Amino acid sequence: MNIIYLDNCATTRVDEEVLDAMLPYLREDFGNPSSPHVLGKRARRAVDLAAVSVAELLGADPGAVVFTSGATESNNIALLGLFGHEDRAPVNAVFCPTDHKSSLSIGAALAARGVETRSMAVRHDGQADLADLRGKLDAHTRVATTAWVNSELGTIQPVAQMAALCHEAGALLHVDGAQAAGRIPIDVEGEGIDTLSVSAHKIHGPKGVGALFVRRDVRRRLRPVMYGGGQHELRSGTIPAHLVVGLGAACRIAQKRLNDNWSAVTRLREVALGVLSARVPGFRFNGDPNVAVPHVLNVVLPGVRGESLVSGLHKVALSTGSACNSDSQEPSYVLTSIGVGAEDANSSVRICLSPQLSEEDLVTGLELVCERARGLAEVVAGASGHYA
Ligand SMILES: Cc1ncc(COP(=O)(O)O)c(C=O)c1O
Repeated sequence: MNIIYLDNCATTRVDEEVLDAMLPYLREDFGNPSSPHVLGKRARRAVDLAAVSVAELLGADPGAVVFTSGATESNNIALLGLFGHEDRAPVNAVFCPTDHKSSLSIGAALAARGVETRSMAVRHDGQADLADLRGKLDAHTRVATTAWVNSELGTIQPVAQMAALCHEAGALLHVDGAQAAGRIPIDVEGEGIDTLSVSAHKIHGPKGVGALFVRRDVRRRLRPVMYGGGQHELRSGTIPAHLVVGLGAACRIAQKRLNDNWSAVTRLREVALGVLSARVPGFRFNGDPNVAVPHVLNVVLPGVRGESLVSGLHKVALSTGSACNSDSQEPSYVLTSIGVGAEDANSSVRICLSPQLSEEDLVTGLELVCERARGLAEVVAGASGHYA
């Protein structure tokens, strides 16, 4: 039996069309895009076309796209790159406490250097509190950052309003778009976003490649975080043409299917809700699904330890939260940041859907989840009688 995959925020299966687009750049067209000869030129052309596909998905100019190894690196270039080693408080940056570690750890590194870091308040529904953000920004704020779509809750942040507040204060807004790109419409120009990170493996592309959108007038304010051959002024290193082509193909496909994918996962979400509400007593959402993408469901399964449930399933893959935090025994900081109590946080799981999932597999997968939850609730609290 195939594994039923319900963890599409952690990563996704590479689309066959993406793989087909990539393979020639590992085989016959293996040239270095920086080489002046015929193979180099072919690779360069493929890289340039990929930049067009990424740019089209983001509503950007292809010249504003920098290829990176993924959203982690993009976040580092955009956030660390704005600060010099000499910068100290009162220079500050504002972070969102529910964001991915790839942003929050940069905050910790900046704080260790002496830059002041501030945390914006987040409401119970998962969205940033805009009045609080306004109060956190001042003339010394260089940047505020948020994930557009939260990786554990699916919450969509009001980035256009956040960008307006940042600009009023003379600060920039960096957006981690790892979970947003290819899933919701993006128009970086219209939203007023200054820098935005993208990751290919979240949208059925390969791992190890991503992009950073950098608004033209912001580029000169960023310093590279690593140095080398200068293939790009912000990011040195040989451009992996096959990976970049994979990213471009994944963006092209995601853009073409954006509306259909949204409808498909909305339908799947209804199916999931039907199964969970019928079979899980006291089932409830973390965050507010009305301000979240339809493919992420973060739910409380009362009486069950999420970690035990997830690790004991052999035919279904889902998680309790971000893949990079899954070794931690602590309740998810994302959930506790929006005011979920420790007990509920420990009883939560994240179900991430994909339009490639069939309704039949989803129902089978969730029934296996509910069956295991019932068994665990029996052991933990003698509560299985409530589970259908
Ligand atoms: C919101 C968010 N940002 C950043 C990342 C890191 O992306 P990458 O694996 O491309 O470095 C992830 C991956 O889990 C994510 O969900």
